[in-house]
Amino acid sequence: MAQFPFLTVDFPLFLAPMEEVSDSSFRAICKSFGADVVISEFVSSEAIIRDVDKSKRKLIFHEDERPFGIQIFGNNRDSLCQAAEIAETYHPDFIDINWGCPVKKIVTKGAGSAILKDIPKMVSLTEAVVQSVKLPVTVKTRLGWDETNQPIVEIAERLQDVGIQMLTIHGRTRSQFYKGTADWTLIGKVKNNPRIFIPIVGNGDIDSGEKALQYKNEYGVDALMVGRAAIGNPFIFDEIRQVLAGKCPNVYLYRDKLETCLKQLRSAAAVKGEKKAVLEMRRHYSGYFKGVSHFKEKKIGLMQAQSIEECENILIKNNEL
Ligand SMILES: Cc1cc2nc3c(=O)[nH]c(=O)nc-3n(C[C@H](O)[C@H](O)[C@H](O)COP(=O)(O)O)c2cc1C
Repeated sequence: MAQFPFLTVDFPLFLAPMEEVSDSSFRAICKSFGADVVISEFVSSEAIIRDVDKSKRKLIFHEDERPFGIQIFGNNRDSLCQAAEIAETYHPDFIDINWGCPVKKIVTKGAGSAILKDIPKMVSLTEAVVQSVKLPVTVKTRLGWDETNQPIVEIAERLQDVGIQMLTIHGRTRSQFYKGTADWTLIGKVKNNPRIFIPIVGNGDIDSGEKALQYKNEYGVDALMVGRAAIGNPFIFDEIRQVLAGKCPNVYLYRDKLETCLKQLRSAAAVKGEKKAVLEMRRHYSGYFKGVSHFKEKKIGLMQAQSIEECENILIKNNEL
């Protein structure tokens, strides 16, 4: 097994960086249910340099989130390096570069997955960031730009050669966005390339303990990263851990889910303010209360609620507690 630069856990589980989802409060909750490594939402390198308050706040984390990585994106050498240097002063455990975001407004600026069309630039920008900070630098990317262009095996070798210390691969191309199923065959090919010695983190569609076990065995990756399946379901890390250990997953009751959900809402409000926390929490409810009878009516109320008090009233009223 390859060595991670920032932890010694055997087969770590990562919470995926997700904009407006993987904030500090959600990261802490995922850690408490067994995520081993968490990463910030992606932060614009230009915004870090311009000292934009909203972006700088994304660099803040709590000690109990460690190991914690700050993820930056951009396409300009000086900005990326300067942003990495600033991020380093927050003392995360590593700096992750986002070379995978498929969103149009990022790609049209040459950042995120746009770089998959210019591998020499990807390599040289990554090398510049590696050289500008003392912390380990890692990369998260996709298989390639589209079906006809999936150079991830070459990319992995070249990024390793310029000094990255971990590579996360989402098994889709940019043109797939989040559609279809993730193709893990190329992730396995990267991992099984005898030239590769850095840890390879597999990402894409892990949504159960069973699948985690299957993909771990089939593709031999050093770690798994879970994104969408953790939204409103931080318990998935415990489920995966139990299944990997050959045990039956723990059962989480409505009461546990309600408690966890309210804890997340309150702690998010303490960090980013009530309005934003109430808004962003909306993404999580379907996950937390999947399968709960009559939740549809509550959800309509939650989608309109403007305050924590309103959310609490809806969630706690007439429930099975
Ligand atoms: C709402 C949302 C926001 C995301 N934001 C980021 C991000 O900031 N940085 C990043 O590298 N990937 C981001 N991603 C991609 C995820 O990290 C992950 O690669 C992708 O969802 C595939 O994993 P999954 O199938 O487990 O969800 C985002 C995905 C979603 C759904």
